[in-house]
Amino acid sequence: MKALVIPTPEIKQINGLKIQDLAIPDIHEDEILVKLHAVGLNPVDFKLVSGHHPNWTYPHTLGLDAAGEVIKVGSINPKHFKLGDRVFYHSDLSKDGCFAEYAKTNYRCVAKIPDSVSYQEAASVLCNGMTAYSAIHRKMNLTGKKTILIHAGAGGVGSIAIQLAKIAQLKVFTTVSTHKIDWVKQFKPDHIIDYKTEDTTQKILELTDGVGVDLIVNTVGPEEAQKDLARLAYNGALMTIVGEPKLDDYNLSAMGQSVLSVNLGGAHQHNNLSQIDDLAVMAEKLGNLLATKKLHSIITKTIDFDEIPSGLKDLLDRKISGKIIATF
Ligand SMILES: NC(=O)c1ccc[n+]([C@@H]2O[C@H](COP(=O)([O-])OP(=O)(O)OC[C@H]3O[C@@H](n4cnc5c(N)ncnc54)[C@H](OP(=O)(O)O)[C@@H]3O)[C@@H](O)[C@H]2O)c1
Repeated sequence: MKALVIPTPEIKQINGLKIQDLAIPDIHEDEILVKLHAVGLNPVDFKLVSGHHPNWTYPHTLGLDAAGEVIKVGSINPKHFKLGDRVFYHSDLSKDGCFAEYAKTNYRCVAKIPDSVSYQEAASVLCNGMTAYSAIHRKMNLTGKKTILIHAGAGGVGSIAIQLAKIAQLKVFTTVSTHKIDWVKQFKPDHIIDYKTEDTTQKILELTDGVGVDLIVNTVGPEEAQKDLARLAYNGALMTIVGEPKLDDYNLSAMGQSVLSVNLGGAHQHNNLSQIDDLAVMAEKLGNLLATKKLHSIITKTIDFDEIPSGLKDLLDRKISGKIIATF
């Protein structure tokens, strides 16, 4: 089979990736083998190219977000997957991935794709969609909360988070860079802040009568998370996806606030079976939202398998709004 690999431990750049012919993976009793139809590209893919994982053997097959057809099932198959089932999943980054014609994974994290949802659509809501879902529906308590700031609304996580927050009837503010604003408008956030030309803190305080927002989803990083503390209301929650603020000089408890975090793939790494099962539950929820048209497509570019390296480069260079999907 064709696979996009990091050939050796020394390769740490996207231009060192190679397409190689590898054997189709053998499965263990609790795994399934999938023929890939579409895969999603994520920042974690290029981060792994430069960072690698200590458990990898080489050549290592890259890719975490998979949508395809079941072609083999193991003897342990409590979810009763059948050959030909259309499935999708976010896989374990410490193992060989899905930028290949075939990939295997543990049955636990796998969900069925609803009939009316394409492989491409399914692949577009995995790492990013499940992170947004986990932030809003697993970590934050929405009771009594009215407002949310979602950073990077044009990103894979942000554009799904805006939609989930609107479905949850929150008032949504989002930060977007100037040239991506028009694309984000389709998701109908209540207010878009152009973070390149506006002062986000000042704007949030203006928009909330000086109170701040109840909830924040931060996919930007710890520096922005530090600034978020001044934007967060009493009893608010700050969801950090890419690093926490320093709290040494901040009285979190006086404000009744929480700082939360998401590490989606950590479920695999920590062998927490109920949380691995929950990856499939969240995929299923997102699949149903797509099937019922409550969630709108964020796919902005569909490329061929061979073009994945240039797609990853575009993602790294922040050229993309929404999501790039590769098909076979
Ligand atoms: N912890 C986890 O489990 C987890 C899971 C998923 C993703 N992540 C991480 O979360 C981050 C976002 O993922 P993604 O899939 O949404 O990436 P993405 O699709 O590449 O989107 C990133 C977005 O951030 C915007 N951006 C950059 N700096 C910004 C700033 N200062 N303020 C507002 N927006 C800014 C970029 O647009 P402009 O450059 O045009 O502004 C881009 O639209 C990545 O670092 C990813 O690795 C973590």
